[in-house]
Formats: sequence, C-alpha cells, structure tokens
Amino acid sequence: MTEHMRAVRIHNFGGTEVLQHADDAPVPVLGPGEILVRVHASAVNPLDVGVRQGGFDFTHHPFPMTLGWEFAGTVERLGTATTDLRVGDRVFGRPALHRDGTYAEFVAVDPAHIARAPESLPLPEAAALPLTAQTAWKALFEIGGLSAGQTVLILGGSGGVGTVALQLARHAGATVVTTASGDGITLARSLGADEVIDYRTGELAARGRFADVVFDTVGGDTLEAAYDSVVPGGHLITIAGAPDAERADREGIHAAGFVLESDGQRLGKIAALVDAGKLRPVIQRTFDLGEADQAHKAMEAGHLRGKIILNVTTQR
Ligand SMILES: NC(=O)c1ccc[n+]([C@@H]2O[C@H](COP(=O)([O-])OP(=O)(O)OC[C@H]3O[C@@H](n4cnc5c(N)ncnc54)[C@H](OP(=O)(O)O)[C@@H]3O)[C@@H](O)[C@H]2O)c1
Repeated sequence: MTEHMRAVRIHNFGGTEVLQHADDAPVPVLGPGEILVRVHASAVNPLDVGVRQGGFDFTHHPFPMTLGWEFAGTVERLGTATTDLRVGDRVFGRPALHRDGTYAEFVAVDPAHIARAPESLPLPEAAALPLTAQTAWKALFEIGGLSAGQTVLILGGSGGVGTVALQLARHAGATVVTTASGDGITLARSLGADEVIDYRTGELAARGRFADVVFDTVGGDTLEAAYDSVVPGGHLITIAGAPDAERADREGIHAAGFVLESDGQRLGKIAALVDAGKLRPVIQRTFDLGEADQAHKAMEAGHLRGKIILNVTTQR
C-alpha cells in the first residue's frame, strides 16, 4: 500500500506557479542502503529556483519532481542501511540530486551523505547548513588548501554560502577579505571578516594580487575580475561559473569549480564546529511549506542576507 505525505512538487518547469502543493504525494520508496528521514525543515537554494525554471539539466529526473536538497529532520525508518543512526536521531544533510528533494514530509537519503545535526541548534536552523557549509568547506579547505596565516578573498560575503565561508575562514586563522553591499557590509563584519570591500566601488580592482585563495560565489563579471586578485601559485575556486583553465595557466594560478557531493564525515566536522560555537547559520527569512512560491519569489528578488528556510513539520 502506498503511503502519502505533504509535498510541494513541480509537474513541469516554469514560474513560481508550477510549485504545486499535494497532500497525497507518495512517501519515497527506499532504494538499497537508503534511510527515510522525516523532514522538519528544508532550505531554499538558488539551485531550486534554477531547476524550477528549467535552467539546469535535470532531464534524468521524472515529473512530478520534489525540489529542495538541504534539510534537517529525524530518522524515521532504517530500511536495509548499514548505519550507526537510530530511529529518532536528529540529522541534517543534502540528499542526492537524482532523488526527490526536501520540500516534503519525508526524504530518502544515503546515510553516508548525512550526519547528526548540531545539538546546539533547533532543526529549522540546522537546515540552513548542510549544502551551504559543505560547499564553503570544500572550496576553502579541500580545493583551496586554505590555512592559518593566509589571506582569503570571499566574493559575495552576505549570501547563503558567503556568510558561512567567512566564518569558516576566520576560524581557520586566515585573514578574511570579502565583498558586499549595503547592510551586507555590516553583516559580513559581524561574522568576522577582517575587511569588507563595497563591490560597487573600484577598490578591489585597484588592489592587484593579494589573496592566496579567492572563493567566488557570484560569477559573471565578478568571476572574470577575480583572476586578478590571486597571487601567483594561489587558488581561484568558483561555484557560480565555469573556470577558465587556459587563463589560469597563463596567469600561473590554479582555477577550479565543482558541484558538491555530500559527505557525512565532512558534515560531522561542520556540526562539531557549530556545537563549539565557531559557526552559526544566518537566516534571512522562514516560510511554511505551503508558502514555497513566496520563498522562491524572495530568492528571485535577490539581496539575500543568509538563507531562506521552509518549515515542513516544525511549527513556528
Ligand atoms: N556548485 C555548487 O555546488 C554550489 C553550491 C551552492 C551554491 N552554488 C551557487 O553559488 C551561488 C551563490 O549561492 P548563495 O546561496 O550564496 O546565493 P545567495 O544567498 O542568493 O547570495 C547572493 C549574495 O551575493 C550578493 N551579491 C550580489 N552581487 C554581488 C557582487 N557583485 N559582489 C558581491 N556580492 C554580491 C547579494 O547581495 P547584494 O545583491 O545585496 O549585494 C547576496 O547577499 C549561486 O549561484 C548558487 O547557485 C553552487
């Protein structure tokens, strides 16, 4: 017998009107090694908006499709998985992109892709971190090799990824320079940036090469200009565009881009940092699941200061 749940799904690509609320969506059927998690809250990411608009190649994914790939919740069912997790454990993670997402009461995940949620955070706040913080961690440390005493430039310090990246870089003992505008400048300073440059001025271009690691979360012209900030032998990592390997070679720097694959061990280290008081999520606004269209409109309007969250089973 099929079990049912509440979910927000799309039956075709398009505007926010394609986000359809259903009370009778099928609960995901567990694949080999997967567990079922009761979603308490899902984050909304630019990825979700891009997929909804048909801007990414998601042709591998059948309709109706449940969006959202960042969550916090509790373990509901273990299936055949080999895992230390137990029913009722508080967990957070980023499900595989080929699976249905987290705008739903339940999600099926590989337990190797998730971790126990930070004990010090309510689940709706923990939902702001798994995709975002892992992305920042991978860029700064696994690719960029950022270490104490180095200088990092984080392009886009007031957004979902940027607000986490600058806290992680600060904790690693790097000198943190970031870009922002308006009240994003105050926010970036409050999160530990040593220096915040208003990107609407020409100040960054005038500075020349000064950063061992440049992390670009903006793309476009910002990415184009980012090469000129990296010291010889340094790293440029972008998550918002395609790196130009030939240009990087010519300039004697390393350039890389990636699409995150979730790793429960990495996520466990991030949870420990939260519980040690070294990292906190920044949440711009919280909506209920039934307001997913409004959440997408808020994301499309831009100028975010941290994350947008959808409450799924948690009452506000
Ligand atoms: N490859 C991956 O695995 C991966 C993972 C996560 C995210 N991403 C991508 O990374 C990008 C950022 O994601 P996000 O969640 O951080 O987005 P977001 O929360 O929407 O952040 C955008 C932030 O950038 C600021 N901004 C806009 N233009 C800027 C500029 N020229 N210089 C500096 N800051 C600027 C915005 O504030 P103001 O406009 O008010 O200044 C806003 O605070 C998106 O393209 C997303 O798709 C990729």
